[in-house]
Amino acid sequence: MPTFVIVGHRVRTDDDFSLNDLPGSTGRLDVLLRCVNSAFMLSNDIRKDVDVYLVLLGEPDPPRTVHFKGGGLKYLNPDERSTGALVKKALAEKVWSEETGVAPGVFVSKRGLAEVLGDNPGRLVYLREGGNDVREVALSNDDVFVLGGHEDLTSEEEAIIQDGRETLRVSLGLKSLHADHCITLVLNELDRL
Ligand SMILES: C[S@@+](CC[C@H](N)C(=O)[O-])C[C@H]1O[C@@H](n2cnc3c(N)ncnc32)[C@H](O)[C@@H]1O
Repeated sequence: MPTFVIVGHRVRTDDDFSLNDLPGSTGRLDVLLRCVNSAFMLSNDIRKDVDVYLVLLGEPDPPRTVHFKGGGLKYLNPDERSTGALVKKALAEKVWSEETGVAPGVFVSKRGLAEVLGDNPGRLVYLREGGNDVREVALSNDDVFVLGGHEDLTSEEEAIIQDGRETLRVSLGLKSLHADHCITLVLNELDRL
């Protein structure tokens, strides 16, 4: 099943934010919430065969990872506010390196990028402007797609991705896109296989 790992460098790692001001009070969690929407929402259904990890690295206590498992999701709605409420609930939990369930299909842990990638052994596809054209590589439903949220990955994060494992660097076109739009395009490529 396709897995998406999205890194939010400044996204708060506690629940001290307002659902009424997601862009201003969260370190741009709103960008990652739109990624969740793109990964799971079909017109009248939810994709059950997708996994999403939001890796949060902002203040006050990074890292936190909120994991959405399509197969188990029950209370996911298309609006950012209700998904934001699920993340807020997750960030109110005490966290450990093992995942804690916070709602059906939603889990939180104190894992960072390296741990999340270590738990997902598929081939890595690093989505990046300037990579190999997506139409010239054979994507697979078992790939693990990694991308930046509001900001690009750092060179340290790129080193984690390229650490001794098969990794493709793939571009979705010449223009720099929003992260959620990248997910829509990747899933469309996979749907068409
Ligand atoms: C909003 S962009 C990050 C900032 C953006 N690179 C900029 O110039 O401001 C979010 C992420 O989407 C992915 N991305 C954006 N455009 C892409 C493209 N054309 N092909 C592949 N990935 C892309 C990259 O992982 C990027 O870090």
